[in-house]
Amino acid sequence: MAVTIQQLIRYKKEGRSIVALTAWDYLLAQALDQAGVDLILVGDSLAMVALGYETTLPLTLDEILHHAKAVRRGVKQALLVVDLPFLSYQESPVQALRSAGRVLKETGAQAVKLEGGYPAMAETVARLVQTGIPVMGHVGLTPQSVHQFGGYRKQGKTPEAGDRILDEAIALEKAGAFAIVLEHIPADLSLHITEKLTIPTIGIGAGAHCDGQVLVTSDLLGLSSWSPPFAKAYANLREATIQAVESFRNEVRGKTFPE
Ligand code: KIV
Repeated sequence: MAVTIQQLIRYKKEGRSIVALTAWDYLLAQALDQAGVDLILVGDSLAMVALGYETTLPLTLDEILHHAKAVRRGVKQALLVVDLPFLSYQESPVQALRSAGRVLKETGAQAVKLEGGYPAMAETVARLVQTGIPVMGHVGLTPQSVHQFGGYRKQGKTPEAGDRILDEAIALEKAGAFAIVLEHIPADLSLHITEKLTIPTIGIGAGAHCDGQVLVTSDLLGLSSWSPPFAKAYANLREATIQAVESFRNEVRGKTFPE
């Protein structure tokens, strides 16, 4: 049975942790889906991990749509969510509606994710949800604001900053978001937000108290050339790939492949 938004909200009530990962192409999406991941996100981190940009800022809506279509072909069970890239939704609720509409129409994804909270983004979320487009929020370290933050720094470290993030999360829930990503904030703050909200929180670098966890899959696989301090590599595919390619190179040059 394919995973639904209602099921994820039920998982929170039941205390069952939500498993989420990012994907950017067909083969990876197939593997994640086969492994039983609940939610697959075509995150705008694909700007760095698949396209080689330095930040998520240059990514266009057309670029993420192209990748999301490939991911869609590989996903049969998981809920598929696609990020709205920088400046494809911040201008106005109508701009957000057009961009989110393209995501659902052209890729077959079930939901979009966008960054930021109260007040402007909550209004945008409400507009999308009223139109029937499910939205996942994202607060804390929101990478599209990296220059404003002065780097990928932990957010919400003072009581005032923590209260602001809590207010944003509450505003997003009131606006109709079905889940919220909490990125790189203190664990006690994410616990507080998780207890306050009825919708699931999905953490990344936000401690163990969230209703689910998400990682950028290239970090999990040990493929990334750089990973954030909170990421965990469950394999070293970068090294394994280099070794496999070196073996091929040696056998071709030594004329032992093909036999
Ligand atoms: O773009 C992305 O990969 C994300 C995750 C870090 C949640 O937004």
